[in-house]
Amino acid sequence: MAEKREQFRSRLGFVLAAAGSAVGIGNLVGFPVNAAKSGGAAFLILYAAFVVFICIPVMIAEMSLGRKTQRNPLGAYKAVAGDSSAWRFGGWLSLITPFMIAVFYQVLTVWLLGYFIGAVSGNLEAMSAEGYFGEFINANGVFIYLGVLTLVIGIVLKSGVQNGIERLAKVLMPSLAIMLIALTIFVLTLPNALIGVKYYLVPDFSKINLSTINLALSQAFFSLSLGMGILITYGSYISKRESVAGGAKMVALVDTCVAFFAGLLILPAIFVFNPAIDTENLSSSSVSLVFTFLPKIFLSLQGLIGYVGASIFASAFFLLVFFAAITSQVSILQVPISAFQDELKYTRLKSVLMLGACAALLVIASMVSFGRIEFFSEFLAYGGKVNSFFDLIYDVFYETILPLNGFIVCLFVTYRWRKSNLDKELITGDEGYDGSFTQRYVNFALSTFVPAILLFVFVSTVLMKFFGISVL
Ligand code: PHE
Repeated sequence: MAEKREQFRSRLGFVLAAAGSAVGIGNLVGFPVNAAKSGGAAFLILYAAFVVFICIPVMIAEMSLGRKTQRNPLGAYKAVAGDSSAWRFGGWLSLITPFMIAVFYQVLTVWLLGYFIGAVSGNLEAMSAEGYFGEFINANGVFIYLGVLTLVIGIVLKSGVQNGIERLAKVLMPSLAIMLIALTIFVLTLPNALIGVKYYLVPDFSKINLSTINLALSQAFFSLSLGMGILITYGSYISKRESVAGGAKMVALVDTCVAFFAGLLILPAIFVFNPAIDTENLSSSSVSLVFTFLPKIFLSLQGLIGYVGASIFASAFFLLVFFAAITSQVSILQVPISAFQDELKYTRLKSVLMLGACAALLVIASMVSFGRIEFFSEFLAYGGKVNSFFDLIYDVFYETILPLNGFIVCLFVTYRWRKSNLDKELITGDEGYDGSFTQRYVNFALSTFVPAILLFVFVSTVLMKFFGISVL
């Protein structure tokens, strides 16, 4: 028996849940590091411009498609274009992408939980030693963390959109904001912090070139959870009385503020540790930064605040990122769950159990691909090297496919569903949208340069990642 489609209780509930999805490892770690390497405030300005001019229109397109059709991404494409139309391909992509990203992200969330527990139990020193990370990911403990996490996320998802996701976001998002602000204020009071602030806030436009532009756009797109089917799905739970465009702008604003504050926290922390640091050499991978670099930074605070103080700081930071990751994780898993509910008419419990089981198998396959089992560790050769199962998911779904999904959404909404229907949906719950500047801009952007840019980013990433050809 299918259950009645739920709705977010309030606009605030929706904004918090969607911001919970958007705020993740991307904001808290990816953004600060990319900004550090790419001209500080110059990168920030570029990033903010992409959020406003490119990402907000795509957010609005995804959310309205979901609200109009009251479906998951696959159902949404089918509802508009018909069951056998080739557009279904877009729907399938927006279903498989989030599922695979969920697998990858679950591995990271498990590690964050492990690092939080490690810091709380006084292991910060060991955690910052060379080689700790490699041992940690191959130790048996990760499977226990995986079990606990799967259970918690399963319970939230089983409780539904209102009682699970919305409620979780209402608790975790404000706590996250408080922790982020408190940690930032604390870091700013430490010696040398101002060097970091200056480094961050004084723009260096000489660092901006085509590849930093590409980086800023990909970062913005990823950070707002675009191209993952999430906003189509969340859109389907927004009440018809609410303004979709207003909600999208709020979510973008919260997400960008969190990224900004994360920069204000991480960069000064790095400079406190080592005022002469050469940020060019920071690894570009968020993974190695969170798990190998940051523990060292946190440990170095012990000279100022003692080992206990440094451990408290590290615990608070890992908890912060863990919270951000959990709210992202539930949002992304809700996509295939809603597809099971809508398309196969499964109950919520059955959908959660089926998907949970499939996801857990793939997560385990990823977790043993760091040397434990050769088949998964040396899964596929491409881009001039042998890659693990985990690398493959990361490269295909995390790094490559999102702009393609965004490109398809833009074309679908403006040329298949049509602008007049998009307009109608956006005016529902928001009379003021009719004739507004936002309306004119969104319609123009979605049907012209936004899909063109996304296609370009997609093609250049494929050439780079899989064929080693650099276009930029
Ligand atoms: N916006 C998220 C981030 O910045 C991306 C994401 C969302 C990843 C949902 C996974 C699931 O990390």
